[in-house]
Amino acid sequence: MPAFTATAPGKIILFGEHAVVYGQPAIAVPVEQVRARVVVDPQPRGQPGTLRIIAKDIQLDAWLDELPTDQPLVVAVQLVLSELKIERCPACTIRVSSSIPVASGLGSGAAVSVALLRAFSAFLGRPLSDERVSALAYEVEIIHHGTPSGIDNTVVTYAAPVYYVKGQPIQRFLVPLPFSIVIGDTGISSSTSQSVGDVRLALQAEPDRYQAYFSSIGEIVEQARRCIETQSIQRMGQLMRENHALLQKIGVSCEALDRLVFAAEGAGAWGAKLSGGGRGGNMIALVDEVQAASVAQALRVAGAVSTIMTRVR
Ligand code: MEV
Repeated sequence: MPAFTATAPGKIILFGEHAVVYGQPAIAVPVEQVRARVVVDPQPRGQPGTLRIIAKDIQLDAWLDELPTDQPLVVAVQLVLSELKIERCPACTIRVSSSIPVASGLGSGAAVSVALLRAFSAFLGRPLSDERVSALAYEVEIIHHGTPSGIDNTVVTYAAPVYYVKGQPIQRFLVPLPFSIVIGDTGISSSTSQSVGDVRLALQAEPDRYQAYFSSIGEIVEQARRCIETQSIQRMGQLMRENHALLQKIGVSCEALDRLVFAAEGAGAWGAKLSGGGRGGNMIALVDEVQAASVAQALRVAGAVSTIMTRVR
């Protein structure tokens, strides 16, 4: 019997993180250079119902029924079984690996879920549609994030640029002129659920102020979409700066992120901002392709532990 394999890319949010949790639009794109991979190996001699999960990156090697029921990989497996109404599944081993740094804003949790949902449903002979994969990955995101907007599972499932508004059908959009982004990792792991939770508390304490920040971010996202569609890349850089300034006010930046943003702009990026939950993790810089290498170098000098250059198309 063959093994069933699925992969899913990482992601970055170009504009609109945090405000998207409160109904504002956001724009996200896949990052194909980093991926999660899941391989499901049938074990024809194993007892039906016995599933082993191996995820070396997180030192996990256990039988499904030994793991906590709220472990995200276990939740993803159970979601597939209940979606397909399978009570006793054939024995198998599920191997999970990923080159996406965890807790860094690159969507590693969503990518692992999407790859697992696809590989496991294919192994069971009934591959799930993209729509169901995204919806089930969202259920797993709730465990990772508490109150996710749904943007991570959406962009990772469709592996295409998305303009996303919570609760609305996904809108893909064309990128007529590809552009370059350098991603810089602060090396500081940071919990999205923590930063989203802190923003929620701040919103409760000062609703008018925070709603005004979110509306301003929403306007930036609208303008950024038009910039992408009309190929006004330099103006998009300016919008990145404005988005980062608002994220600072919201309280989700940190010294390391600000340092990398400053270094990228000093090295000639058109604009830069944190990307994802913030408080660590990754930042992004919009660059002319010929400057990408020198901006990446400046980021490493300023303390980035790694950089990725990617083209948005
Ligand atoms: C996380 O990638 C983006 C946030 O806006 C949270 C979410 O949308 O669920 C911070």
